[in-house]
Amino acid sequence: MTSSSVESIDQAEAAVRLPQFGALLAMAIEAQGRARAPYSKFAVGAAVLGGSGAAFPGCNVESASYGATVCAERAAVVGAVAGGETAIRACVVVTPTAEPSSPCGICRQFLAEFGPDVLVFAVSSVSDRVWAARISDLLPLSFDSRNLADAE
Ligand code: THU
Repeated sequence: MTSSSVESIDQAEAAVRLPQFGALLAMAIEAQGRARAPYSKFAVGAAVLGGSGAAFPGCNVESASYGATVCAERAAVVGAVAGGETAIRACVVVTPTAEPSSPCGICRQFLAEFGPDVLVFAVSSVSDRVWAARISDLLPLSFDSRNLADAE
């Protein structure tokens, strides 16, 4: 996350940008504590803000068949949709790294499904650092439903 459209801020500034940031962060940290990461030992927590204003947690769930692993961000989105949300407004993801870790490519694609304006806050659980971006800045030129509609 080095492009200028991705900003390095602190938690206070994140709360200014998204009033629900504090609640989402608390939910993501709680979910991080429930991560199932016996192989990588890398616990990730997430929380997404649905269009209704409700928040939903997610954590990574690893599988002995490594490729079947589900990331925290996608787990949170699945929970939101299963809970009745049709829109996702923001995602807070927490990793145990001094610098926040950016969402993986699959999670970027999954979040981009909900439009270019989804706000992503990548947060360190061991420092005050936060990286903030719109999903369209993290995944420019994403493949989306327009591409499918374009097929000839
Ligand atoms: N992981 C996430 O949960 N989210 C990401 O965006 C990146 C990676 C998880 C997957 C795996 O369980 C562990 O972190 C190490 O890759």
